[in-house]
Order: sequence, then structure tokens, then C-alpha cells
Amino acid sequence: MNTNKNIFQSKKENKNILNKIFENSSEISHSSFINFALYDNDFGFYSNKKRMLLADFITSPLTHKSFGLMIAKQIVQVWNYYKNPKYFSIIELGGSSGKLKKEIIAYLKKHNKKIYRSLVYLNIEEANNDSLLDVNFNSKYGCIISNEFFDALPFDRFQKNNKGLKEIFIKKDSDNNLVEVLKDSDKINIFSADFIEKIPENSRIEITNNLKEICNKISSLLDHCVMLTIDYGFEDLNELLINNPYGRIRCFSGHNMDKDILSNIGNKDITCDVNFNFLNHYLEDSGFKKLGFCLQDKFLKNMGISNYFNSIKNPIEKQQIVSLMNPNGLGGFKVYFHQLSSDGFWPQGLN
Ligand SMILES: C[S@@+](CC[C@H](N)C(=O)[O-])C[C@H]1O[C@@H](n2cnc3c(N)ncnc32)[C@H](O)[C@@H]1O
Repeated sequence: MNTNKNIFQSKKENKNILNKIFENSSEISHSSFINFALYDNDFGFYSNKKRMLLADFITSPLTHKSFGLMIAKQIVQVWNYYKNPKYFSIIELGGSSGKLKKEIIAYLKKHNKKIYRSLVYLNIEEANNDSLLDVNFNSKYGCIISNEFFDALPFDRFQKNNKGLKEIFIKKDSDNNLVEVLKDSDKINIFSADFIEKIPENSRIEITNNLKEICNKISSLLDHCVMLTIDYGFEDLNELLINNPYGRIRCFSGHNMDKDILSNIGNKDITCDVNFNFLNHYLEDSGFKKLGFCLQDKFLKNMGISNYFNSIKNPIEKQQIVSLMNPNGLGGFKVYFHQLSSDGFWPQGLN
């Protein structure tokens, strides 16, 4: 066992939070810690109903309604591809307070009454106590959509040391200090020897906990579907496995960013770049086929956002749409398409 004092040691954390997190053990995995910090009913960042997400960070649905309108247009193409089924489900993962849902439904109601009447819309949102793995739903045709869902899932952390990979656990000592502990762990079996070799010495990487179970669950919700995933992250190993002593973790609070998950627990979002390499792998294992991906600015252009932009007169709204397209911000997010059962669909958003 190798014990490291954390450079981000926290001394003044709320004792109640620490007591709850470490109630059953003085040492826990990062995913368990993050699960408490984000989703605990009493202390979790996302469970705090008084908190407006806008106070800490901004996402595309909250930036401007055109984001939802472009996704709605994409969904209509999927509905047509499945030959206008009588019942069509849109399943949104982690849709928060339902902003995207509202825009999509408003668009469909106005522009396509037939799909609107066929619609079942499910917003699966942990903060509303409907965690994805517990959802019991199945339907024949539909779309699965998510914006910044996968980056919000609790993840474990690993560090490469002396050519081997160890899991990083968090330990509370007798003075309530939090320290990191590197240990051997079974979870390392998910990495191939080749993958471990490519990780630079002393670098850290993060892997979503339960990703396999999550992908299996997603594939059980619909018999035929197109999945649209929008998030930040990388597929290319050259970008994922760079020399990175702190890994790809980020915390957001009041629009400030830091990398210290052990302080201010419950008051900041904890996230990391999505490892699309692993996500694609587990989605493919559960029956999905990857159709492709592009950046958000390209997706929005392909869906016709330029015409929409030209029709808008309000300069503030114009600026909001520009933010959705900014290649150094939201416009640089990845838009992935996967399809479950049946071939031959090519999304307009990837054209
Ligand atoms: C970064 S926020 C994005 C919210 C929204 N999609 C947006 O773009 O504004 C991530 C959301 O995923 C939800 N979430 C995380 N894990 C979940 C799970 N297992 N099941 C359902 N929702 C989850 C969180 O509660 C949170 O609302």
C-alpha cells in the first residue's frame, strides 16, 4: 500500500458530510465519494433544489432555445426513418429541470402535430429520484438523447506508477483530513495491457463507474433507436492518454474552475472529460452501432441554425447562439450518433 498526502488536503469540511461519506469505511473509492458529493439527498450538489445550475456553469439547453429546436429537427428525421410509428419515445438522460424537453416538445407541437401526438417523453433525472439503472421502461421506436450526462456520472481514478496502474482511494484520517491512497484493485482488469502501457508515467486517468451496466440499461429501453450524445471528451487515445498528473477532472462552482474534489464538498460540480473510446466500446457491446460524430458547431450548422440565426433580430439572442457555436466552448463539444437495431440511417446532423 502506498499512501500519498494530497496536495489538495481539506481541513475545514463540514463534519456531518464527512461522517456520512465515511460512515461505513474510513476509505472509499472516488466514484463512491463523487456519488455522495453530487447526489446525496442531504448534501449532494445536484440534489440541492435551491441551486440554479446557471449559478455554477452554463450548458447548451440553458444558453439558447435554438439548441433544442435543432435537436427536435434531428428527431423528426429519425421518426420519418422509422416510418412515422404510432408511438415514438424520446428518452432524455439527465435532463435536469426539463429545459431541453420543453423546447423539443414546443417545436414538435408547432411544426409536426403527428409526431407530437405519437410522443412519449421521458426525462430520466437522478435529481428527481429516477436513477437510470432503476428505470423500468421499454418501447419499440424512439430516440435517446443526452447533453452533458456522461460527464456527470461518478468515476473512479487511477494512477500509473512504476509501469503499473493503481486505483486512487480517498481516506479520512483521525484528524478529519482527507488523503489519497493508491492501491491494487480489481477494476484495473477493464484496461488491456496495451492500454496501460500507453498511459504516461505518473499520469492519472478516470473511468466512469458502472459504464457497462449503464450502456446495457440504455439498450434495453427501446428496440429500435438512434442515440444522440452531446458531451465534452475524447475518443483518440493520443488525446486521452497525455501526460497529465491531475487527470481530466474539473470542479465548477460559481463559474470558477479548480481540480480539488476534496474541498467544499457538495457545493461544486465534479466532472471529467468523457472517455468516448470506452463509451463507444460499451455501447457497441450492448448492441449499438456507432454512426459517427462531429463537433457541436458543425451539427448545429447541418441542422440549419444559420437560417434561424438570420431570422433573429435581438442582439442578445444572437450572441447566445454564437456561444452555442464557439469552437473553444460549447461549439467544440462532440455530438455522437449511435443506432440500435436496423441499418441505413444517416443523420442530417452529420452531413
Ligand atoms: C451536467 S448536468 C446536465 C443537465 C442538462 N442535461 C443540461 O444540459 O443542462 C448532468 C445531469 O445528469 C443527471 N444525472 C447524473 N447521473 C444520473 C443518473 N444515473 N440517472 C439520471 N440522471 C443523472 C444529474 O442529476 C444532472 O442533472
